[in-house]
Amino acid sequence: MSWLSGLADICQTDVPLSEHTWYRLGGPARWLLLPRDARELAVVLARCAAHGIRWRVLGRGANVLVRDEGFDGAVIKLVGPAWEEVRFAGTQAHAAAGADFPQLVQQSVERGLHGLENLAGIPGTVGGALRMNAGGRHGEIAQYVRSVQLMMPDGSIELRGAAQMGFGYRASNVGRSVVIEVVFALEPDDSTELLERFRTIWREKHAHQPPLAARSSGCIFKNPPDRAAGRLLDEAGLKGQRRGGAEISTQHANFILAHPGATTQNVLDLIALAKERVRSETGIELELEVEIW
Ligand code: EPU
Repeated sequence: MSWLSGLADICQTDVPLSEHTWYRLGGPARWLLLPRDARELAVVLARCAAHGIRWRVLGRGANVLVRDEGFDGAVIKLVGPAWEEVRFAGTQAHAAAGADFPQLVQQSVERGLHGLENLAGIPGTVGGALRMNAGGRHGEIAQYVRSVQLMMPDGSIELRGAAQMGFGYRASNVGRSVVIEVVFALEPDDSTELLERFRTIWREKHAHQPPLAARSSGCIFKNPPDRAAGRLLDEAGLKGQRRGGAEISTQHANFILAHPGATTQNVLDLIALAKERVRSETGIELELEVEIW
């Protein structure tokens, strides 16, 4: 029996991941699985465990760099109505893992709920943003989380309060579990003022970073304690460096852009160059913020 027996209608094979990532780079996934609900997800995880299949969950691919050889395992995407539902109850928002994070931010602002406007301009799904505790200068998602529903690798469901999520700078303890739903605790506020703040933050980002539509993965490196990776890279003279079709942004040195013809290897070569240059000039070891598959 194939490990996919009975799952044919939610499985595709050899799917180019370049079509599923913001970077539009990377080779194929051996399998792409699209479970329609939590019950099907539990079956997929159980099969992967039983057959020793490596798996990853992919959101919008906004913080992922897939190698040119692709991913020799199962990529799971949480798409469809059950995974994209957003429900407001009083000042709380209940968002399923596959819901679009920027849309959730926009809806909260429109409803006069304060909190998530501080996260304007962050792409991705709710689950992806939660897993990496996405954020920026004005805050991080952890500040607004009340609880998280997770599926454990054995298919069981666990509910964790925000304090049990192990949140840190771009980190959580989601690990090998899968985010199912996030409950956000927001506060009532004036929606016109919230919209103004949202726009100000969005404009500020736009002024300092390559546009969201550009092929990048946002910041490549984490900020080391009390330092800005962008400044370190800039001071090391790395802006504008190119390898093949990849380039270190001349606007913000912590972004690597993919131009036509770029490969993942081009981006990896620039990452290696940047790490080496900053290490030799400052002794600081930069850590990746982007996930490499
Ligand atoms: N800087 C330079 N040269 C550059 C880039 C930045 O000198 O090329 C300086 C800036 O002038 C500033 C400092 O470095 O003094 C920090 O830069 P910035 O304000 O742009 O913020 P950041 O620390 O680089 C962080 C997040 C971003 C988020 C922004 C804005 C990290 C690694 N990055 O960037 O998040 O958008 O704040 O809120 O925490 C991401 O997570 O993918 C990301 C882009």
